[in-house]
Amino acid sequence: TVMFQQKAHIAWNQAIAPAIFKIGLTCRHGFARTKPGQFVMLRISEGLEPLLRRPFSVHKLIRKDNRIDGIEVLYKMVGKGTGLLATRKPGETLDVLGPLGSSFVLPPSARKVFIVAGGIGVAPMVFLAQHLVESGLSPSNCEVFLGGRTCEELLCTDDFAALDLPVHTTTDDGSAGDQCLVTHPVDIALVDRRPDVVFACGPLQMLDCVTGIAAAHGVICQVSIETAMACGMGACLGCAVPSRDTPGRYYHACLDGPVFDAGSIWLSGGPDSDRDSLSTGVQPLG
Ligand code: FES
Repeated sequence: TVMFQQKAHIAWNQAIAPAIFKIGLTCRHGFARTKPGQFVMLRISEGLEPLLRRPFSVHKLIRKDNRIDGIEVLYKMVGKGTGLLATRKPGETLDVLGPLGSSFVLPPSARKVFIVAGGIGVAPMVFLAQHLVESGLSPSNCEVFLGGRTCEELLCTDDFAALDLPVHTTTDDGSAGDQCLVTHPVDIALVDRRPDVVFACGPLQMLDCVTGIAAAHGVICQVSIETAMACGMGACLGCAVPSRDTPGRYYHACLDGPVFDAGSIWLSGGPDSDRDSLSTGVQPLG
């Protein structure tokens, strides 16, 4: 993919749930070929702050007059960087670098897909679902499993419903959907309605669990992960992910990922088992 650095105009930046925002960015170049799972680095502050770049996965493409006019990013306010981003106003500009990284890939013969997302990990999955349906996948063959701690963390259900996709929801506290981990209905459905591939994005433990379940059933699984990313371009080595298929080797989450074949990386355990700071989707840690 060709990547661009450009000034985007903020078209909107609004809260859609507690601490969850959508920001629309109009930009001239380069997002027409963006693939689901890819991300952008946003320079959050133009001021004297140290270079505040943060990674965010592309949530949707913005269409206007039959062309791609920009991107929408769904983000959670989790710290200083995202807190500053939430203060940015429509009409202001924002420096955007991207699209970056790898994407979810539908295996050539795949007819049936499960999409699994936890919390803000849903961000790239709306784009993925739209892309799959546009590419001809039958909506009834694309089941979505959404999990959150509470009903307020069940995001984007309307977007999936608008595509006619079956959506299963779970919460930890039972405030919406079934009261269980999202991996529970996935496990049952994997036996009942075996898919050709599972696409997952969410907290590390969830990804680890989905990876294990999919492997147990012999189903291909791709996961989108996040590590701290300072540059997004392979220059800072801050995003190393230990390889599972080649012991001793590390992948760059920003170049080789953020989407990986689930079996190719260590999500937990492995050589650095203290790596529990990974969070969810391509969404900053601060
Ligand atoms: Fe800098 Fe990946 S974020 S090398």
